[in-house]
Order: sequence, then structure tokens, then C-alpha cells
Amino acid sequence: MCGIVGYVGEREALPILMDGLARLEYRGYDSAGVALLGSDGRLRVAKQEGKLARLRAQLDARAEPPSGPTGLGHTRWATHGPPTTINAHPHHDEDGRLVLVHNGIIENYAPLREALRARGHRFDTETDTEVLVHLIEEAWYGRVATTAGADGTTDRTTDGDATSVTADRGLRGPAGSPIGADGPSRFAAAVRAALRQVEGAYALVVMSEDLPGTLVAARHFSPLVLGLGEGEQLVASDIPALLSHTRRVLLLEDGDVALVERAGVTVTDLAGQPQAREALTVTWDAAAAEKGGYAHFVRKEIDEQPGALADTLRGRLDGDRIHLPELAALDLDAIRRICVVACGTSLYAGMLARLMLERWARLPVEVAIASELRYGDPVLGPESLVILVSQSGETADTLAAQRLARAKGAPTLAVTNSVGSSITRAADATLYLQVGPEIGVVATKTFTGQLAVLTLLAAELGRRRGHFDAARVADLARDLRALPEAMTLAIAGEPAIRAAAEALADRRSMFFIGRGFNHPVALEAALKLKEISYIHAEGYPAGELKHGPIAMLDPSIPVFAFATPAPTYDKLVSNLEEVRARGAELVVVAGAGDTDIARLAERVLYVPVLREELEPFVNATVAQLFAYHAAVALGRDVDQPRNLAKSVTVE
Ligand code: AGP
Repeated sequence: MCGIVGYVGEREALPILMDGLARLEYRGYDSAGVALLGSDGRLRVAKQEGKLARLRAQLDARAEPPSGPTGLGHTRWATHGPPTTINAHPHHDEDGRLVLVHNGIIENYAPLREALRARGHRFDTETDTEVLVHLIEEAWYGRVATTAGADGTTDRTTDGDATSVTADRGLRGPAGSPIGADGPSRFAAAVRAALRQVEGAYALVVMSEDLPGTLVAARHFSPLVLGLGEGEQLVASDIPALLSHTRRVLLLEDGDVALVERAGVTVTDLAGQPQAREALTVTWDAAAAEKGGYAHFVRKEIDEQPGALADTLRGRLDGDRIHLPELAALDLDAIRRICVVACGTSLYAGMLARLMLERWARLPVEVAIASELRYGDPVLGPESLVILVSQSGETADTLAAQRLARAKGAPTLAVTNSVGSSITRAADATLYLQVGPEIGVVATKTFTGQLAVLTLLAAELGRRRGHFDAARVADLARDLRALPEAMTLAIAGEPAIRAAAEALADRRSMFFIGRGFNHPVALEAALKLKEISYIHAEGYPAGELKHGPIAMLDPSIPVFAFATPAPTYDKLVSNLEEVRARGAELVVVAGAGDTDIARLAERVLYVPVLREELEPFVNATVAQLFAYHAAVALGRDVDQPRNLAKSVTVE
């Protein structure tokens, strides 16, 4: 994960970098840092452990904060080395003349570091990233660095837990030669030479004190986007960080190295061969990524779900037909089985997809955890459609599973919210969620967006295979069109959901149970509660409780049950009796009008009655609100929960 930004132009870079980092903080928030190259030719770094607000306070307190029209910045999600100020990015070479920010993992960092140490390099941090800056230093200067150069001094100061590094030197190029007009392209060549020694994943931006107005950016398995302006260029991990400045973006591909200068950008591969990359114009609005009066993005995004759902369905329900032209890129007649691959919340959407695909399309479906599949030996081939579900489209495990599937000749279909994300570029076809940007780290509207797309897909495959006739498509289309209103009604039940959450927020553990379509919902409800409230929770198929977990139950552990109408409703009621007999407190989500269930439960949260396949939309919404209010009651950081990140771009 981690968010990175870069700027070259005529304007003061610091506010642009800080604004970009604020929009990327969802990617990581263990520490943050910036480096700026001033018009006086001096490079200055400021970094700080903790959230971006702490770096901002440090900068505000400085008499002379770093300034200049060239700079880069980083917000970190720690992988190697704890989230301290010293491990915060940017990292620098011995002389403080090169600085670099990185997102990803350098897998061969240990042998590289040993080799660099043996050649006289000194390491200040515990990160994998630091090897990159030393490798580039060797390739650029053509020598092993000393701790102080022959033509200047390095000044490192420590200010509380904030570190500043400044170096004061004249301009000098590789091996002490003066910088010529070809300096920037030689610098890009040095970065390429360094990167050819590296294994693993990276998106990085590097700058040299020798080259004002120049950045080099590179990408391999971690996202990186260039923002193209007039006389200024930007780099960022994600598009929202660019939108205040430009809508013209260029998506780098794996293996690309970009030379970014005020006048424009040049992209090559690692061997230096020019690469043609088309610029795109982003049509969605930066305002869509603002909080708009809500206390938290998560709460806003829960409320956005009815509208987002209408956006997902727009143009895809054509009268009584399902319209998914993207599927034309796949040979669906050749498909004999399906493997849905995902992580976390997206995995639970995949479990629900399986139930619909099996029911409507009569195809065997397997659901695989991406981090497990990638190291397994799955039976996949041209007859297996691999559906990759990922809101970010950048999840490292899911991307690796996609590479494995492709290597085995399986066609891949991406289901994602992120236009142009890595997963879409490697997929044979992509279905977009069209729910707009989701800024809260936990998935809410992207989950229901995934469900909507997967529902359409299952019905369309069923129709093509002759198992889901026109009348059934028409029924489903009618029910889907009514779904946004049902979700609005579910959200209107917030006062009772909030009261339940506030009453139970002091419990140390909870169970979430359901059967059939409500089993994945129970898993998602437990994950949501864990993620934002830090209350321990387990999701279980209700029929499995008696095979072990029931031993845990006592009056201190509430059980939250999804008991909406389904063929297994009576079986579920028996399970609730069993729970009740152990003295556990019951919160039940039930269909409107189910007054009988109240005899078993302390609290009943009513939702509109829907067809079984669509119940997860409203039941998951109730679970989201429950987790949200429990987290707020406990004073948690709802939008940026500890230890999490929006895109998990490392394994
Ligand atoms: C969702 O609330 C989680 N933060 C997480 O489980 C997420 O769903 C998972 O990391 C997969 O992300 P993706 O959809 O971007 O691939």
C-alpha cells in the first residue's frame, strides 16, 4: 500500500504534495514525509511518524518549511520496519542528494543490502526501500558514496521525533561531471539500471538535487498514475490526488519508467525502449471524494448506496434484458466451470456470486481466497472462467492469482470499481461497479456494487445457457429496479440499529450467524465490526454453531442473526432456540411483518421483504450501520482504522 505523490512545475510544491497526500491517506497512515528541491538548489526533507496531521503540524511549526517547485511525498503503511520517523519515506542516499518514495516490497532487499554494505554504503533504516536509493546512487554517480562529498557538507538534524536532512552543494552530475542538457535522460537511465537489479513490487518517485524540475517515476505491480498539465506534471498512486490540478492522466504499466519534466513526460521500459501510452480524461468529479457534511466518509458512503446501486444498474437493464456488452470479449460458450477469486469483503461478494451462478447458470463454481490460490496448484484451463473481484483492482494477492490463471490459459473477468486499475489491464473483460470513489477504508458501497454486478452476470449467464428464461429475467429486472428504494428503507431503520450498537459496544466478542445467502452476509458483518470497532467477532453458518462454537456462548456474548425469509427460515429459528437456551442475547434482522421472531430476540431490526437473492443488499446495509455506530460509540477512527489500508498492494 502507501500513497505517493510528486510534482514538477512553476508553483510551490508543498501545498500540492500535502493536498495529494491527504487524498491518499486511505492507502496508509503510519507515517508521512515530503522532500522539496528549492530554487536555491537545496534539497530538504521533513518526515514524521503518525498521521499526516502530525507532519502538517511539524511543518507549520517550522520557521522555514521546505519549499520549492519540485517535490515528492509519501504516506506509509509499514511492511518492513516499524512505523517510526526514521523509517518514514522519503529515503535518501548518504549525501542527502537523492531522495525517493516507494510503495511495494523489494523482495531481494536483504542480499542487495548486504552487497551494498560491503561496497561501503551506510543504512539508516529498517526498510526494504532504502536499498533502492543506494542502488540509484551508484548508478547515477558511478561510484560508492561517502558520508560527506568532496564539494559540500551534509547537515542532519533531529528535532524531537522529526528528522530533517539538508545538503548544501553545487550542481554536479555523475562522477563529478557537470550536468548537461542530457542530464535528465541520463538520470532516468541510472534509475533503470538500478531497477534491473530489483525483484518485487514497486511504484516509486525519485529526484536528485542535481536536476531541478525533474522526477523519475517507475512502476512494477504497484499502481502509479501521471497527471498531465500545462508546464507542470504530477505523479500519484491514485487519480483522486490529481483531480484538483488536472483531469488528463496517463496510467503507467508494469515495467514502465517515466521521466517527468515540467514540459512533459517520456515513458520507456526498463531497457530504455520508448513506450507509447495514451492519456485518458477523467470524467468524475473531485467533489465526489469529499465528505459533504457527514462526520465520516463511511457513513456518507453507506447513505450513497441506493444512488450508487442505481448507477451500477444504469444502462445494464435494457427493458427486460440484461445488457453487459463487455462480456463479448469472452468465449462464454466454452466455459464449463467458474472460479471466483478475491480477498476480504470482495471474497464474501464472491461467495454470494457462487450461490447465484449455481442457481441460475447451473455451472459449478469454486470460490478461492486469492492469497491461497496464488501458491496452490489449481485446476484451471481455457474452460474455466476466472472472475476476479476487487474494488481497488490493485490487491496484490488477487493480481498474482490473475497471473496464475492467465498462465494456465484461463480467461479472466475483472469486477472492479477502479477504472484503468492493474486488474483491468490484465483481464480479458471488465465489469465496472460504477459506484464512484469510496474513500472510507472499509468497503460499503463497493460491496453492494459488487453484488449488483455479480447478480446481473449470474442472470445473464443463466439466460445464455438456457436456464433463466425471459420471464425470470423480467422478474429480476423489476426487483432490481425496486432495490434502491428498499435500501433507502433499510437505512431509515438507523435509529434502532444505532440503539442496538450503542447498547452492545462494550461487549468483548459477538457472533454473526445466517444460512444460505445470509451466511456470507454474516461473514461480512463480522469483518465490518472487527475492522472499524476492533470488537472481536465471528461469522458462522448458523447450522455450524452446534459443531463447536456454541461452547463459547454465554450471556456476555451477543448473537446477531440474519433471519430474513428463506427456504431455511425454520431451520434458522431452531438454531436461534439453541442460542437462546445458552442465555446469549439475540439481535435479529428480520423481514418486515415477522412479529413471531420477537419472542426469541432482545432486539429485532426489520428490513423490507425481498427475494432471497437480493436480501444481502439490505442485510449488509444493516450490518454496516451496526458496525459504524459501535465504532463511533467507542471513539474509533472510523474512516482510517488502525493497521488497515484501502488497497492492499503488498502480499
Ligand atoms: C473491506 O472492508 C476490507 N478492508 C478488505 O477486506 C478488502 O475487501 C480486501 O482487502 C480486498 O480489497 P479489494 O476489493 O480492493 O481487492
